[in-house]
Amino acid sequence: MAFIGAPLDRKEGRAKVTGAAKYAAEFDVEGLAHAVLVQSTIASGSIISIDTAAAARMPGVLLIVTPDNAMRLQLKKVAPQAVTAPFLQDRSIVYQGQHVAVVVAETLEQAQDAAGHVTVKYIETPARTVMDRHVSAAVVPKNFRGGQRSPDSLRGNPDAAFAAAPVQVAQTYTTPVEHHNPMEAHATIATWHNGGLTVWHTTQGISGAKKMLAGLFGLEPDRVRVICPHLGGGFGSKGNAWPPLSLAAMAAKMLGRPVKLELTRQQMFTSNGYRPRTIQTVKLGADRDGKLVALRHDGFSQTSTAELGEFCEPFALASELMYSVPNAAVSHRLVEVNQGLPTYMRAPGEAPGIYALESAMDELAVAANVDPIELRLRNYADIDEHTKLPFSSKKLRECYATGAEMFGWSKRTAAPRSMRDGRFLVGYGMASSTYPMNRSLAHARVRLGADGTVLVQAGSQDIGTGTYTVMSQVAADGLGVDVSRVRVELGDSSLPPSPVSGGSMTVASLGPAVQKATAMVRDRVFRLAAAHWATDPAALTLRDGIVSGPSGKMSVAELMAREQVPHVEETAETKPGDETKHYSMHSFGAQFCEVRVDPDLGEVRVSRWVGAFDCGRVLNAKTARSQLIGGITFGIGMALLEATHVDAATGRYTNQNVSEYLMAVNADIPDIRTHLVANEDLISNSLGARGLGELPMVGAAAAVANAVFHATGKRVRDLPIRIEDVLTA
Ligand code: MOS
Repeated sequence: MAFIGAPLDRKEGRAKVTGAAKYAAEFDVEGLAHAVLVQSTIASGSIISIDTAAAARMPGVLLIVTPDNAMRLQLKKVAPQAVTAPFLQDRSIVYQGQHVAVVVAETLEQAQDAAGHVTVKYIETPARTVMDRHVSAAVVPKNFRGGQRSPDSLRGNPDAAFAAAPVQVAQTYTTPVEHHNPMEAHATIATWHNGGLTVWHTTQGISGAKKMLAGLFGLEPDRVRVICPHLGGGFGSKGNAWPPLSLAAMAAKMLGRPVKLELTRQQMFTSNGYRPRTIQTVKLGADRDGKLVALRHDGFSQTSTAELGEFCEPFALASELMYSVPNAAVSHRLVEVNQGLPTYMRAPGEAPGIYALESAMDELAVAANVDPIELRLRNYADIDEHTKLPFSSKKLRECYATGAEMFGWSKRTAAPRSMRDGRFLVGYGMASSTYPMNRSLAHARVRLGADGTVLVQAGSQDIGTGTYTVMSQVAADGLGVDVSRVRVELGDSSLPPSPVSGGSMTVASLGPAVQKATAMVRDRVFRLAAAHWATDPAALTLRDGIVSGPSGKMSVAELMAREQVPHVEETAETKPGDETKHYSMHSFGAQFCEVRVDPDLGEVRVSRWVGAFDCGRVLNAKTARSQLIGGITFGIGMALLEATHVDAATGRYTNQNVSEYLMAVNADIPDIRTHLVANEDLISNSLGARGLGELPMVGAAAAVANAVFHATGKRVRDLPIRIEDVLTA
């Protein structure tokens, strides 16, 4: 094992920084026409009429698709509910920004110009714009976690235990609507050829996009090809096959020409999901030493009206297993509003949920007068008390200890406002992190050529996290070749299918498939060589294209020539097994934050950060560290900056641009120190790695909020933490 774990540069790094890497919108397709979306200006109601006459006469205009002339799609094949309007299949309007027409022209500018001349008349009906006003009409999710989990759970009697507890914390925490804002805009180029469809599409899931298109257009899946070699970020917004993908394909079909549809930054606020607002109440009951006796985590998140389907932010699931507590309950409720359908975003569930839980734990530490780390150790869960299963591997104690040491936690004085640096108030805050080890069915094909090079192919996609690089390391070690001899092909749905790159599952899903296919190739090489030498395959080794054994050495080229094969190739399939019944599999971590607060101006600056995590085996120390920096950066942004504002009167977002939707930039982020605990979780999967895309995001917002409390004495329970929240201390 030479390459797994090493801090190797990204395989595609050079192509990216030189501009050679092509993203979906950049492919040259002959005869390309340009499509532009027209969007609803009302939040609720229906279309009376769409006047396209003036737009149709404008220069270069080729086609205007409206609900009146749109191709009929086979929606029942792809959606459990009849989600029709965003595909231009009916005239109903359920949110502001919903697509109502597509204008296609010879140039982008002509299409944009004409889109502004499509006149839509509406009948408007009253809209629910702000979730908080409709909490009394909340509903139980019908399809929570795809029906795999219950939105509610209960063990013991948390209400009675809480009532009798000598130390109690009961608070409500809220998180805002947030938008992913990947740098690369959502884009599709669609072209039809002999009844088959090819799309270049920016997506975290080429398999899902292929399935959606095949279903909607009634095609055999093999007639659809989705290509996506690189992504400029997704963060969940490119996990689903959102309607613009299908509208591009529809326009191309209707026009009989290739069509490109690229969203604007503004349109990305209303076309591909967002993190829903949450209102969460956490109740913690403890004895005088801070040992938990009762935990309740209940709350609401917003979703769209039922016409668009359902999404429920699973904020309380981590509270089922984070601490040892005999009496615990969680519940999730939905509030329907006239906004688009929310979706997964950067540690969905855990990011807002752990913010609430870990803020409440900090409040409990104050109430019980126990150090925050000590409080967590007193409530450490040695098993998953929700499922009653042991953890596959959990090194959270090491995360607390190492993180605290690296951070200098022992220098913290407990009282709020007790630490200063000149005129600045200094605060130390910490929080726990956790994220599930998700894994799905995956396939990979590995080919060893006579020249000793290796080709790895999988219908996965590198969303910017290092999949090309890490998979080459797995294959290099398995076949004893230098990593430079391995080529990895991803991002093409004609390759062996792999799961969506979401839920931090790519390494744990695809990694074992590459590992297995690699082992199958090696074993076949050994069998061929063993037959030749009449020896035991187990006695052979493979290194740098040479098979060695007790009877001598032979190059792979020689062996393949002798066997008259051009290469040795195997395809492997791997999936979760019985371990899911016997173990609870999660990653864990500890976040440490120092803030400096200007007591006169209320400005909060994060000045130091330490994050220590257990994600099982680390496959590449460099890409892993990049993941950690990225997640923590987004966590700091969640704490202090990110929020989409909804205008209560119209249901419109008022800051749908990146000048007013604030995201953390370099100037907001201190030097981030990280540590990955040495571990190998071979119960979770054969590679021992759990994936860490989302883990470092979790707990970061709570660590900031807890540090702000320590610095100022002001507990902010409504994200993001703003100057005015701190100044009113
Ligand atoms: Mo991630 S929010 O599961 O793409």
